[in-house]
Amino acid sequence: MTQKVALVTGAARGIGLATTKLFIDQGWKVAMIDRDGPELSAASKTVSDAASPFEYDVSDPAQVDQMVEAVLSALGRLDAVVNNAGVADFLPVEDTSFATWRRIMETNLDGVFLVSQATIPALKETKGAIVNIGSISGLRASTLRVAYGTSKAAVIHMTKQQAAELGEYGIRANCVCPGPVKTKLAMAVHSPEIISAYLDAMPLGRYGTENEISEVIHFLCSDKASFVTGQIVAADGGFETTGVGLPALRRE
Ligand SMILES: NC(=O)c1ccc[n+]([C@@H]2O[C@H](COP(=O)([O-])OP(=O)(O)OC[C@H]3O[C@@H](n4cnc5c(N)ncnc54)[C@H](O)[C@@H]3O)[C@@H](O)[C@H]2O)c1
Repeated sequence: MTQKVALVTGAARGIGLATTKLFIDQGWKVAMIDRDGPELSAASKTVSDAASPFEYDVSDPAQVDQMVEAVLSALGRLDAVVNNAGVADFLPVEDTSFATWRRIMETNLDGVFLVSQATIPALKETKGAIVNIGSISGLRASTLRVAYGTSKAAVIHMTKQQAAELGEYGIRANCVCPGPVKTKLAMAVHSPEIISAYLDAMPLGRYGTENEISEVIHFLCSDKASFVTGQIVAADGGFETTGVGLPALRRE
């Protein structure tokens, strides 16, 4: 049987690394993409040689073209693309400089657009799947996320655009929106106050794990989801479900 190949961006750590490991456990090969060379190289040594590291920046159109060429020449095919690379910065609207806005958009939004577009020819061949990583912050507005939240809301909509257009090639596109997971990205922006407010507002009352997110990503890339496209799935401990009143209505 032909071994399937997934391209995972932001694979050097966090959710991307957990996704790499899960796909490999499930018998896939993985092209691990990251712009952090040393971290990527160290991470790739912790997984089997079914994973191949590729150091590229997904926000740079020229690098994305080179990346797709390199991955295809090394691994021969692409069955799934997981657009996971992301950056975060939490700042008030008034203090968000244009440079910060662009820094967030160029990875979180431009990167998803560029990588998806460049991999369409390969995904057509396999009737493959795209999974974009959004965020709970793209589903609901909250303070300090004018750039991050807007980038993720745009990724959610881009997923629907991709599903609408690429369905005729048999390519599916879905979006996973994680709630809080204790990765390097989250810990850089989640203050103790934010953590305690989150825990209070989430029905499951805890952070998720990288693996809990990667299970949803893997399902959406697998044949088990062969009739699922254009969907936005929150893996968030129920965060998106609740509005006002959860802490006040708890029994204790
Ligand atoms: N951790 C959370 O609580 C949380 C919640 C919601 C959504 N997310 C989303 O999940 C995804 C993964 O986040 P994480 O928490 O694992 O983050 P992380 O910071 O642990 O890992 C992100 C990886 O992406 C890489 N990266 C960043 N920009 C890149 C670029 N332009 N090109 C190539 N690689 C790049 C980084 O080097 C890093 O290795 C992100 O899209 C993030 O927005 C995370």
